[in-house]
Amino acid sequence: MKSPWPAMLSALLLIPTSAAAVPAPELAPTDHQAESGTISQGVVESNHAGYTGTGFVNYNNVTGSYLQFTVSAASAGPASLAFRFANGTTTDRPMTITVNGQAVATGKSFPGTGAWTTWQEVSVNTSLVAGSNLVRATATTANGGPNLDRLRVDAPTDTELPTAPGQPVCSDISYNALTLTWPASTDNVGVVAYDIYNQGQKIAEAPSSPYRLGGLRPNAQYELSVFARDAAGNVSATSPEAVCTTTADPGDPTPPSAPGQPTISGVGQTSATVSWAASTDNRGVTQYDVRNANNAVLDSTTGTPPATSKQLTALACNTAYTVHVVAKDAAGNTSAQSPTASFTTGACAGGNNPATPTQVSSGWSIPWDIAWAPDGSFALVTERDSFKVFKINKNGSGKTQVGTVPNSVTTDGEGGLMGVAFSPTWNGGSDQQVFFMHTASEGNRIGRMNFNGTALSGYAGVFSGMRKSRYHNGGRIRFGPDGFLYIAIGDSQQSNLAQDRNALNGKILRITKTGAVAPGNPFGTAIYSYGHRNPQGLAWDSAGRLWSSELGNSSVDELNLIQPGKNYGWPTCEGTCSTAGMTNPKRTWSVSSASPSGLAYANGALFMAALRGQRMWRITLSGENVGTVTSHWNGTYGRLRAVAKVPGENAIWFGTTNADNNGGQPDGSDKLFRSNLSTGKR
Ligand code: GCU
Ligand code: CA
Ligand code: CA
Repeated sequence: MKSPWPAMLSALLLIPTSAAAVPAPELAPTDHQAESGTISQGVVESNHAGYTGTGFVNYNNVTGSYLQFTVSAASAGPASLAFRFANGTTTDRPMTITVNGQAVATGKSFPGTGAWTTWQEVSVNTSLVAGSNLVRATATTANGGPNLDRLRVDAPTDTELPTAPGQPVCSDISYNALTLTWPASTDNVGVVAYDIYNQGQKIAEAPSSPYRLGGLRPNAQYELSVFARDAAGNVSATSPEAVCTTTADPGDPTPPSAPGQPTISGVGQTSATVSWAASTDNRGVTQYDVRNANNAVLDSTTGTPPATSKQLTALACNTAYTVHVVAKDAAGNTSAQSPTASFTTGACAGGNNPATPTQVSSGWSIPWDIAWAPDGSFALVTERDSFKVFKINKNGSGKTQVGTVPNSVTTDGEGGLMGVAFSPTWNGGSDQQVFFMHTASEGNRIGRMNFNGTALSGYAGVFSGMRKSRYHNGGRIRFGPDGFLYIAIGDSQQSNLAQDRNALNGKILRITKTGAVAPGNPFGTAIYSYGHRNPQGLAWDSAGRLWSSELGNSSVDELNLIQPGKNYGWPTCEGTCSTAGMTNPKRTWSVSSASPSGLAYANGALFMAALRGQRMWRITLSGENVGTVTSHWNGTYGRLRAVAKVPGENAIWFGTTNADNNGGQPDGSDKLFRSNLSTGKR
């Protein structure tokens, strides 16, 4: 691990936007959307224009219908509550406002505004207690309340993060549960909850330590870390990690019998049907996994009992498969393997089918991103945890370290040195600018350096203010066809930031080379799209549409078509949902088959590198829609992270991430590969 750059240099840095959390409380407005409040006798609607957020609340027209908000204040003191509403009738709709059960305004007037699309504000001055406050607005007449859009609170806000929890310890470990104990955090206002993560996934929220974690899998290793959260949603830095393994299930130590000999039918270009004889089990089989020769799961059936036949639909063309089946029971026991069956898929008909890869280069440690020089002759490749940058020629020769990105730090997780992008007009002479996304002491940051073709020099910070955390740092940067820099930044494990248009995290951002807001952005800020959890892939298709791959939480990963100003749903939606105002993904995957990072576009298809899924997903595009989806090299190369089209050639490069905590391989074990794509009409 690299030690930080000398302090002198960082003192010389020019960071235009302030980034670090301000410890002292400050007075600032906080918006609470009505549709996110607690509604008693009312419905969320969006049929009258002019609201903010994703809708408004239409109070039922009865006395006593109400909306309640949880409002936090950093310290006790005066505050103003501004209610944004519309009343399209000429009759007043008075409401009583209470704070923590005490009336602060009785029968406050909410008069007619002229139309249901004309929104006005009514303000109430009150005082709040430090920490959480309950604000309720209750209709006092049979007409109910008005349509309420938003509550804006001006109060001392809490911007101070809780301290990091201490080292967690596991005890009372059983096959499906364990008790986690950790030294508490402190906070200026108060810790309201602890988020417990297993690797990058939040698995529980605990009010305090100790906490009994249930619903765990038997014989499974958990890498647990704890984060403290306050009422304002500030999340602490990570605790150290506790690594704990559950025991075997004593209630059912017996795995199912091995499934019988599989048979293959209906072999097509990208599909084949596998059928097998059922397993038996003392408690009943709950799942069959169809796996390839690397034990990568190609598909599964579930049910009681599950089907004993499965059509595999995401196969690579002209490829030999040897498959077997295993059975699982509810206790997580896995059977021995069935005998194997082999088949070869049909000849490749269209373009962009990736051929068997050839190794380009070895000896890497978590290569995170690949950026080709605009002339296409060589690439720069970043390493996440060493902070080193290497140059490598297009033919795979000449791998040389050209520098290190100063001011980089790890997050003992997924942060570090991540994305790299050349200025689109880079020529090594009059334009030497190369951009990096990396984690720094204060958060995630875009830094710029000069690269003359041989060595990196002259670091300057150009854009900061993005929070960091152990996980969810995003990290990809790409110049768009419009010449502006796009940034994929994760929610830094503070999921509410993804919906907060005053915060940079959980977004795709668009900036100029000097870090200014790019002209034409939808909200006049750096934000291009929002509601993202942990996007790590950015690629434009031949029509200039932007696509992004995004790591989901516990179940669903996403491929999104990114359009300016759109809300991609996190944390309200993971994957597809039907919430008004939120945009659904174009394709989803289970996190076990994908966990996608890099994304590249070549000859009509997107190539999406999958970490946990250990495969390359090929997604053909048809306008704004996804066509055929196939998966390649399942389990052959391990976890895949970076992917880039080779300039001027119908080929991709991709890199592995096996030397990280999740891959568990030694430093230097990662590799870069090349795959040629078939040409011709799709
Ligand atoms: C109309 C209007 C609603 C409103 C209601 C009311 O139905 O569309 O938005 O809430 O009147 O009078 O309460
Ligand atoms: Ca109403
Ligand atoms: Ca705090």
